Amino acid sequence: TENLEIENVIIGSGYGGAVAALRLAESGHEVTILEMGLNWEKSGEKFSPMISPGKSAAWLRTKTIAPFFNIFNTKKYTGTLDRWDFSNIKIWMGRGVGGGSLVNGGMAVLPKKDYFGEVFPELNTEEFYKKYFPLAEKELEVNSADENFLENCSFYKFNKVGEQEAHKAGFKTVRVPNVYDFKYMEDEYENKVPRSALAGEVIYGNNYGKKSLDKTYLKKAQETGKVHIHDLHKVESIAKGSDNTYILEVIQTNTLGETVAKKKIVCKKLFLCAGTMGTLELLLKSSNDNKLTLNSEVGQNWGNNGNFMTGRNFVKTFSGGTGVNHSTIPVGGIDNWDDKEHPFFSEIAPLPMGMDVATSLYLMINPVPQKGSVFFNPVSRKIDLKWSADNVALARKNAEYFIKKMNKANGGTRAHLLFNNGFGADICYHPLGGATLGKATDMKGRLRGSENLYIIDGSLIPGTIGVNPFLTITALAEYCIEHIISEDFS
Ligand code: FDA
Repeated sequence: TENLEIENVIIGSGYGGAVAALRLAESGHEVTILEMGLNWEKSGEKFSPMISPGKSAAWLRTKTIAPFFNIFNTKKYTGTLDRWDFSNIKIWMGRGVGGGSLVNGGMAVLPKKDYFGEVFPELNTEEFYKKYFPLAEKELEVNSADENFLENCSFYKFNKVGEQEAHKAGFKTVRVPNVYDFKYMEDEYENKVPRSALAGEVIYGNNYGKKSLDKTYLKKAQETGKVHIHDLHKVESIAKGSDNTYILEVIQTNTLGETVAKKKIVCKKLFLCAGTMGTLELLLKSSNDNKLTLNSEVGQNWGNNGNFMTGRNFVKTFSGGTGVNHSTIPVGGIDNWDDKEHPFFSEIAPLPMGMDVATSLYLMINPVPQKGSVFFNPVSRKIDLKWSADNVALARKNAEYFIKKMNKANGGTRAHLLFNNGFGADICYHPLGGATLGKATDMKGRLRGSENLYIIDGSLIPGTIGVNPFLTITALAEYCIEHIISEDFS
């Protein structure tokens, strides 16, 4: 085992970790990021499209793990997409330098101001909407598609049909901004550049077009010369050392997931940015194994952001189908949030199968009135969830209402071809909470009762934010790290 002493360590290179790294480096501090996934850019490996999964498709699996149509075998490799299965819920996550930004749909959605205020009553809402959200949008390079392009691009027929049908059923739709460069997409459409979104790439990574974190925050961070990213480095546990230091047990692996080196890293300041599930597993496991002291709020207030996937088959009565080709980047949302009885936001999702399957796919986001919790299971040596049908009752009621109304106005059936009973109640892309701001941590992300230990990732958000979460995670990270730098670094 190699022993190392490092001043500032960040675990994880997703949104929280990338923001923290850039701002710490800009204010003159050396930072080391430990990331269990691969540095794809450095490796020279390519990402693969959904219909021909390659190395990037799955994290150390021999079969693909997408939400459906997993008919493909893959070779074991440190791929970009991981999934953790619990009873009643499956959770997808990104792995690699850039975290979830590598695999996600790039939707950069501003939460409703009122709802943000409800979720975070102690934060200054005005300041967030004037300062931290615009800053996050700028750094993430958020942009919107040209309406003319959307109108005429055959790859967006699924969206056009989705919006028309929603309107016919009496729902309101909104345009959704994204970090995918829509100017690049226009050039893709005209065959001027290599295709990515228009070639079925997204959930196993995009080779072009998407401004994932490795192209924005992490790139800027590395340009300072003060940020050192170690990929294929997995933190196994945390223990408290003397003088308020932290001792990390780390394994370095190869791309088959085999351990090639063991390291013991002692650090002064530790930033836990391993994503909601990763951060909770590290904290709860270290508490069980190493007596790391945690406050009682750790593991509480966990939620799936009301994720509920559903769809409709035989969408052709009025529209003539959803199109042969789908861009992988969503641009439309159905906004029913202000309906007191059935509040939801739904992404009109693509289904890039390379043929017209006449199916509409929706990722609904609902409020989470009843939160779940996370605990360490000493038998499986993994974290487990308290999460049942009760936690998704409102989402299910909303989905029934939504699909019924859409089918009544437009024809079609519940998507039995995609999901059991037409409902994917167990599909979660947005795990949130468990180390919530103001409860498990103070109002700046300092874990209560643990000096020099900071939480900056999705686990700060108490289980719900009403829209796709990464813009909020980025804004919260900007706010936390700004205060941490000015108050804790002299
Ligand atoms: P994030 O998960 O991004 O990063 C954590 C990093 O830590 C990972 O790289 C992980 O490998 C690493 N790590 C974990 N444990 C570790 C350990 N022990 N040691 C070392 N490293 C470790 N959101 C949105 O707003 N718009 C969208 O369009 C989508 N679409 C979408 C699609 C799909 C398929 C998924 C799976 C998710 C989305 N999301 C999304 C969700 C979004 O990607 C997610 O909320 C953020 O990536 C979470 O950011 P964090 O900073 O919390 O962690």
